[in-house]
Amino acid sequence: MILGIETSCDETAAAVVTGDGEIRSNVVASQSELHARFGGVVPEVASRRHLELVSPVVREALDRAGVTLEQVDRIGVTRGPGLIGALLVGLAAAKGLAWGSGIPLVPVDHLHGHVASLYLRPAPVDPPFLCLLASGGHTLLLDVEDHEGFRVLGTTLDDAAGEAFDKGARLLGLGYPGGAEIDRLARTGDPAAYDFPVARVPNFDFSFSGLKTALLYAVRELAPEELEARRADLAASYQHAIVRALAGRTLEAAERLGADRVAIVGGVAANSELRAALPDAAAAPLELCTDNGAMIASAARYTEPSAEPLRLDAYAVA
Ligand code: KG4
Ligand code: ZN
Repeated sequence: MILGIETSCDETAAAVVTGDGEIRSNVVASQSELHARFGGVVPEVASRRHLELVSPVVREALDRAGVTLEQVDRIGVTRGPGLIGALLVGLAAAKGLAWGSGIPLVPVDHLHGHVASLYLRPAPVDPPFLCLLASGGHTLLLDVEDHEGFRVLGTTLDDAAGEAFDKGARLLGLGYPGGAEIDRLARTGDPAAYDFPVARVPNFDFSFSGLKTALLYAVRELAPEELEARRADLAASYQHAIVRALAGRTLEAAERLGADRVAIVGGVAANSELRAALPDAAAAPLELCTDNGAMIASAARYTEPSAEPLRLDAYAVA
């Protein structure tokens, strides 16, 4: 039994997963409503909320799984990258539980966690594969050869794909977090209404900041009632440009590297147009795309416990 704890951003999450990847419980307390009025995550507010939620969320995960702490064989916890204060709350809670109960503590890299969301039952996807990791903080193309880790092939030169969704949603006057909102609104809009540019950058990298600026200019030209009328078209066209960039580069890389299989992970992998644009790509169920504890527990199966758990520190940047 592995207890996974995740507090890197604005989800306080804990889960119990078995050694062979069966999810026994997966509890996610989202703080997004708390941050919505600020239009984004406020780090210090997130840390304080994690502090309030982490114990009840862990207890709930154990209860729903029907296990006691004594039955837990290892605790996996996100160590980074993420908001440093938020990470420290989860790490401190995990240290306390591990130390108090004599359970081995496994430090988990959040990005490895996203990849390991694919290793869970009932339909595990095993390496090797080429992986697009697209979240609020990262946009990476990864060569995944084994369960233990990955090699970075490309990254974003500016904004992450999820960040582009969130900033775009803000420009369109939609709520936070914006990805799911744009996804929903785009279904009623015309993706060809606006021709937003997709930056062509070398190698396997990505760039989204120009796209965001293009949306800003398009929105600025519209009077408030015009924006109201064009909002769905703008959302559809904007999403289409992001998806074209993500899917295009991923397929290009797969062809150049001769990868037989492609997978998508991270919050943006929940996007319906991206999933449709890469119909052959392996993808975890929607609830495992956005941050959760099950993916952290999953990665902890493939990481060694720390020899000096109380000395573990969090890191903000990968
Ligand atoms: O993986 P995640 O939960 O947290 C990070 O590690 O960043 O990803 C969150 C990101 C946010 O930017 C959110 O807007 C985006 O994933 N997202 C989506 C969708 N659902 C969540 N983006 C596009 N379409 C969606 N359906
Ligand atoms: Zn994440």
